[in-house]
Amino acid sequence: MSIYPWGRYRAKGMIFWKLIMIKLISKVKSETLADLRSFCRETTSLMTSDVSNYAKGRYRLWLFHECNLSNGKITKSYHNDRLWNFCQRVYPGTNIGLLTFGGNINGIHSKGLIKEHRDHGYSRAIARTVNLGSCIFNYDGKDYQLNDGDIIEFNCKKLHGVTKILSEERFSINLWQLNQEKGYFPIV
Ligand SMILES: [Fe+2]
Repeated sequence: MSIYPWGRYRAKGMIFWKLIMIKLISKVKSETLADLRSFCRETTSLMTSDVSNYAKGRYRLWLFHECNLSNGKITKSYHNDRLWNFCQRVYPGTNIGLLTFGGNINGIHSKGLIKEHRDHGYSRAIARTVNLGSCIFNYDGKDYQLNDGDIIEFNCKKLHGVTKILSEERFSINLWQLNQEKGYFPIV
């Protein structure tokens, strides 16, 4: 997988940074990986089928907060302290996430794929994903193979999707920051 850092753009005298490629920022430590995988497996019992037309047949669980994609309402969602602490290390300041699953566990069959899309306005542009298993992630028209334990960062307002799962099971923990500038506030 080729990973490039931030691209630099200049516009109207203002310098801003734009993520033009996905960026492999880290790997989950091997001692954490087994624990994280068993947590994800156990949590499949709490997952529900995605309502998004882009992710038909995918099971998922909102983490910390949930955004109702039809009316934009933010509500509280699944929380546990250990997961919260892990996610803060992966993406400081994250307060909304989605655990998704592809495979067969406890009678649940989840396709785990999502067509190319841009993420909803509840999130700021930068997303980070913890990938367990392997898959093909399409970002801005290019395919990337994500491997077990990869932690990536990308601009979720650019087209992206998961087009193929290469392992028997695959989980992703997608993390965002609520876009308070657009009125999506965490519930204290
Ligand atoms: Fe997305």
